[in-house]
Amino acid sequence: MGSVGHQSSTFAVTTPLYYVNALPHIGSAYTTIAADAIARFHRLLGDPVMMITGTDEHGQKIQRTAEERGVAPQDHCDEIVSGFQDLWQRLNIRYDRFSRTTAERHEAIVKAFYQRVWENGDIYEGRQQGWYCVSCEEFKEERDLLKGNLCPIHTNKEVEWRDENNYFFKLSKYQEKLEQLYAGQPDFIQPTSRRNEVLSFVQQGLQDFSISRVNLDWGFPVPSDPEHTLYVWFDALLGYVTALLEPEDEPTLDNALKQWWPINIHLIGKDILRFHAVYWPAMLMSAGLPLPGRVFGHGFLTKDGQKMGKSLGNTLDPLVLVDQYGADAVRFYFLKEIEFGRDGDFNETRFINVLNADLANDLGNLLNRTLKMAGRYCDDKIPTVAPETFEDDHPLQSKGSGLATQVQAAFDRLAFSEACEAALGLVRASNKYLDDTAPWSLYKQGEQAETEAVLYAVLESVRLAGYLLSPIVPSLATAIYNQLGFEGNFDELAIGQHFPYQTHSGWGLLPGGQALGKAKPIFQRIEVEA
Ligand code: MSP
Repeated sequence: MGSVGHQSSTFAVTTPLYYVNALPHIGSAYTTIAADAIARFHRLLGDPVMMITGTDEHGQKIQRTAEERGVAPQDHCDEIVSGFQDLWQRLNIRYDRFSRTTAERHEAIVKAFYQRVWENGDIYEGRQQGWYCVSCEEFKEERDLLKGNLCPIHTNKEVEWRDENNYFFKLSKYQEKLEQLYAGQPDFIQPTSRRNEVLSFVQQGLQDFSISRVNLDWGFPVPSDPEHTLYVWFDALLGYVTALLEPEDEPTLDNALKQWWPINIHLIGKDILRFHAVYWPAMLMSAGLPLPGRVFGHGFLTKDGQKMGKSLGNTLDPLVLVDQYGADAVRFYFLKEIEFGRDGDFNETRFINVLNADLANDLGNLLNRTLKMAGRYCDDKIPTVAPETFEDDHPLQSKGSGLATQVQAAFDRLAFSEACEAALGLVRASNKYLDDTAPWSLYKQGEQAETEAVLYAVLESVRLAGYLLSPIVPSLATAIYNQLGFEGNFDELAIGQHFPYQTHSGWGLLPGGQALGKAKPIFQRIEVEA
């Protein structure tokens, strides 16, 4: 049978808090889908889960965007925020908290945190001169700029010269402590390529960074000098802390930190690695707080091999994709086809081929034709099969028994693509097994017991694959379970109680005699117009 043990513990995961300068794009969807999948996997395990997403709403970039549109900044933010929430709903994202940096409670948390850093002597006033990219909300080294003073990330945006009095955070003081952190906790930054990037950046010697701005209204006043506005990144990172408050809690650091801190995983894209893997742990050290478990920096998405961007006009609108193909299709493609951590490409032909092959054909057809046979040959019930029928070397039982261990290990490493491949391996083996054993012939020859054993083994394998893929394709998993006669829905937050991992992750769970649901294709083949 082989189910997998798991010691339950709380699990908190974050997406970045997205800038509200524009509606969400496929990059924001990518991180959020990944965070949702890992959160759902932990819910299956029965862990108490906290999944955090939200928006980063202050700073010059947002202020300017609102000005250009001629709207008040808060109104602008509210409008874009509803666009994010709408997309998350359509992508079937089950977040627990939506953290907005313009929330009133957030200011109290920021003040309290600032106070701790201030009391620790890590903030001082100084002169900031340098090139600033408003799109990054970050100062750039002159040597990193492209020709024409363009930002290396926002290659169509000129950086702006700044010369002003700012407050600084003493990052340099944490050089050694950070180096100890990276050495002592080698998986703090993942994947390894990102870790190496950070190590080499830190080796060059850390410089203090400015945490206030002048001539900017849209943000919180610096608590120790309200003439200054707090730097958007100092404010935004703390959005992860504010998110942890219960709705009825007073906004104090103690309340925010009592249950879920430290966060287990921060999921981010590679462009904001420095903020999360260098600045953030140093800020937390300064405030005397425990550090997050891991920072995982995923790659960038390209389209047809080209960098996606507004200037190139080749952005992919996640809403259009979801409307056309459904949430599960989008979730599956990005998590299965792209190795998490590397850059990955979107190409529509490839997208359609993958969905047709894996979901419509291998998984969907398999379930559909097996259910139809079970309807005809087994009176619309899961056949009852004697336990000794399946020897240890039965091709599906042996593959299925070890599957959860493999899939769980893949999820632990955020290797979504491997998790999918492992589950699909059982599906492909089931297709082969069905063809090899030909239950339709067995039935004709009057081999009822053998026919039933074959159908049981295949239905059970589809169930198990569906269960383990449910964090990635929750609606498909629900359809599989319902057609196999189970009641319930993989969107339930208490899914770990409803379909416990302990039993459902093993092979051989399907109860004989259970009435089957109605067989319907779970994933429509996508037809391409010639
Ligand atoms: N507001 C900051 C994050 C603050 S977290 C306390 C921010 N926001 S963002 O909206 O600009 O970016 C959010 C995420 O989207 C980043 O992780 C970024 O890497 C990701 N992506 C933006 N474009 C992307 C692609 N083309 N592909 C994949 N992800 C990309 O940064």
